[in-house]
Amino acid sequence: MMESLMIESSRNGITSCVLLHLFLFLPFIHLITCDPINVPDKILLNCGSYEASSFNGENWIGDSGSNFLPPEYDKSSSAVLLSNMEDSLAPKVPFSTARITHSSLTYSFPSSPGLKFIRLYFLSSLYLKMNPSNKAYFSVKAGPYTLVSDFNPSVFAEELNSKFFTKDFLVKVREDKLTITFTPSPLISKAFAFVNGIETFPVPKSIYFPGSKVPVPYLGHQQILLTNDEYALETFYRVSNVGEDVDSQNAFGIWLNDFRYISGSHYGSVLNIKSRTVNLNYTTSSSKDYNYSAPSELYWTARTMGSGGDDNTKYNLTWSFPVDSGFKYLVRLHFCEISTVVTQPNQRVFKVYINNQTAEERMDVVASAGAPFTPLQKDYIVMVPMESGSRKDLWISLHPNLESKPKYADAILNGIEIMKISDSNHSLAAMFQLRREQRKKVQHVIIVAVATLGTILGLLFTFFILILRAGKKLKLLPSNSSSTHKIIQPTVTSGLCHQFTLAEISIATSNFSEALVIGEGGFGKVYRGIMHHDGVIAVAVKRSIRSSGQGYKEFQNEINFFSFCHMNLVSLLGYCQEGNEMILVYEYMAEGPLSDHLYKKKNQPLPWIQRIKICIGAARGLHYLHTSTRHPVIHRDVKSANILLDQNWVAKIADFGLCRTVPSLYHSHVSTEVKGTFGYLDPEYYKRRKLTQKSDVYSFGVVLFEVLCGRAAVNTVAVEEESEKVGLATWAMHCYKCGSIDELVDPHLAGNVRPECLRAFVEIGIQCLAGRSTDRPTMGEVLNSLERILFLAR
Ligand SMILES: *[C@@H]1O[C@H](CO)[C@@H](O)[C@H](O)[C@H]1NC(C)=O
Ligand SMILES: *[C@@H]1O[C@H](CO)[C@@H](O)[C@H](O)[C@H]1NC(C)=O
Ligand SMILES: *[C@@H]1O[C@H](CO)[C@@H](O)[C@H](O)[C@H]1NC(C)=O
Ligand SMILES: *[C@@H]1O[C@H](CO)[C@@H](O)[C@H](O)[C@H]1NC(C)=O
Ligand SMILES: *[C@@H]1O[C@H](CO)[C@@H](O)[C@H](O)[C@H]1NC(C)=O
Repeated sequence: MMESLMIESSRNGITSCVLLHLFLFLPFIHLITCDPINVPDKILLNCGSYEASSFNGENWIGDSGSNFLPPEYDKSSSAVLLSNMEDSLAPKVPFSTARITHSSLTYSFPSSPGLKFIRLYFLSSLYLKMNPSNKAYFSVKAGPYTLVSDFNPSVFAEELNSKFFTKDFLVKVREDKLTITFTPSPLISKAFAFVNGIETFPVPKSIYFPGSKVPVPYLGHQQILLTNDEYALETFYRVSNVGEDVDSQNAFGIWLNDFRYISGSHYGSVLNIKSRTVNLNYTTSSSKDYNYSAPSELYWTARTMGSGGDDNTKYNLTWSFPVDSGFKYLVRLHFCEISTVVTQPNQRVFKVYINNQTAEERMDVVASAGAPFTPLQKDYIVMVPMESGSRKDLWISLHPNLESKPKYADAILNGIEIMKISDSNHSLAAMFQLRREQRKKVQHVIIVAVATLGTILGLLFTFFILILRAGKKLKLLPSNSSSTHKIIQPTVTSGLCHQFTLAEISIATSNFSEALVIGEGGFGKVYRGIMHHDGVIAVAVKRSIRSSGQGYKEFQNEINFFSFCHMNLVSLLGYCQEGNEMILVYEYMAEGPLSDHLYKKKNQPLPWIQRIKICIGAARGLHYLHTSTRHPVIHRDVKSANILLDQNWVAKIADFGLCRTVPSLYHSHVSTEVKGTFGYLDPEYYKRRKLTQKSDVYSFGVVLFEVLCGRAAVNTVAVEEESEKVGLATWAMHCYKCGSIDELVDPHLAGNVRPECLRAFVEIGIQCLAGRSTDRPTMGEVLNSLERILFLAR
């Protein structure tokens, strides 16, 4: 167990910034470790661990034997070491260990009375596997406050499409200790609770509800005083428009980009003074704690309606955030006038609506803050009435106030925070509404789990065997060989990749039976095979044509890039090199290449939502290659034929034969001979031999149009009456310029793609196809947009 853990961890090579893009319809769920802001008295508890560990510049302590977990609880619960973390994106600390309990378990942190930040870390899937009936239902209380109840992290993770996540709370503590209690649900027999990590630190009282003298407007009612001593908050959203999600952060973590929450087709425009050095003039006392309040970067950019002038009066700039109904929310808006032309009162005056109620009739940032470049925050409390069984949207809209005759018909906003407020019974948990949905989901999960359990167990077992064997091999190497560097060195005979014998492969493929061929190309043939490893697993066997020098290079390349381990990348199980044979063994992808489902008529056309999900999966895989590995990797042959689908329609990137690493951050491109597939080739790469991650973005843009149009990348379409055949990219560009994007839609999808969804999809596709690589978005940005589009499509 320990052995495999060690290898797992050295193989994963988690970079200093692990950013997880998750689906957007759920509250604050991202998790990032990126140069944390150091705050005093922070406790980072690695649950289920016996030792202290340092991770990303932060020091975690194990809960076993610590003062925070009293000995009786240490005995009654169990510490679990996870040797095979399914999603390698999950940071090793605290996710590689967990504390599991079948009875109530209380952590106790000494603290002074006051406001405390609490972050709970959960990694879901492994518990589900250990307990196929999924009994992880539990509640968590902090002092008198119920933070979650009947909570099932697996269901939550399923909804998020991420195996790991955090939940953030702010709790008012009145005693000299903070207790956090995990209680398995009494409603479910043999229920258990678990947690991977707990983070907590004191927060200045003034940050939220600064003093009971300041009334917070309660929309729809008269202003009320929210008493300072009776509340707990759960962070639902923190957004800004600084750019990439990681650009702005404070003690509570990063602020997500607001773009994905904009509702409707008007996105306004972003005002940015990042490049100028402007000193902001903080005036209010609370703003001084901007490590806890808003990070100063937040005020360097703002979203405005843009210079549309009269057009701005025709629409509302609107953000919409799904929240649990039946709760009050604290909405905090951050404003700062940073335009060089708006310097006086009454130049930019606008209305602010929250949930269709007027929060500000006459918002004039310069007038209210007293000067430009002066941050201003405004709090509102809004009730989102109970609605049966579902989440509701909380809307924030801006609209120019023309009655005041401002100089500019425009509005501005820098950041939004939305916090759920505990109700009178000290609960933040949405008790009733999710239950039924959850139960349904659970059943679904169980059915899927049972249906695929055999395969998964088989695969897991094989992986385990492989890793174990590799581990034994590793032990024989000199000790310095265990560094990641050595493992990825470019010789076939080293490394962790399992070596099969030709005899094993022969048996697996019935002696390379033609009946088992599932693919064929310049490289050779791909066979479906069966392997026995105390269980039966399906594999794909790629047998390269002998004695081609090029083939050998690519073969080596595949093995060298074996270190990838991500759910959206096809896993290499091993290889075989005997005589002239060069054979690669992969996990079997039941549904085959994406291209087959787009324009091979024998297959059912894919529904629109499924197509978007496939694009998201593929984008996630590429984003991982580009950013999350120790050495960023460029795939170089992104195409729909290299995006494979497993039996659950999860998209995985395949074929790393042409992969190249970017040598270092200081050389952001590699010069190289042109490789790739015609129709997907980045024109800049073609002309200048300059290879960057953006070349993959271009190819991915072509894939997006294949997905939308249901057509192949080359040689399929005619422009207008001319019979000249052109590439899909050119045609898409043509339709976009002519405003006839409807023509692009696959006839099978007709009527199923909402116009705003189509526009957004085409726009991101067109951006990917930009002639200059610098004008293209990053894969992370593409991923963000696609997630937004999925949200629009639901
Ligand atoms: C904010 O955090 C930074 C980095 O941890 C630290 O240097 C700075 O002193 C902090 N500022 C305040 C006001 O606490
Ligand atoms: C900051 O605000 C104070 C008080 O309003 C004012 O006196 C000062 O001139 C301002 N500084 C800048 C740089 O705007
Ligand atoms: C606000 O109004 C819009 C359009 O009139 C409506 O679709 C939406 O549901 C309303 N939102 C709330 C929270 O009432
Ligand atoms: C903007 O939103 C408010 C509140 O929901 C609504 O009353 C108003 O009609 C909207 N204006 C436009 C132009 O959509
Ligand atoms: C609060 O508790 C009371 C009594 O236990 C219960 O009747 C009421 O429904 C609870 N309110 C909420 C919002 O849960």
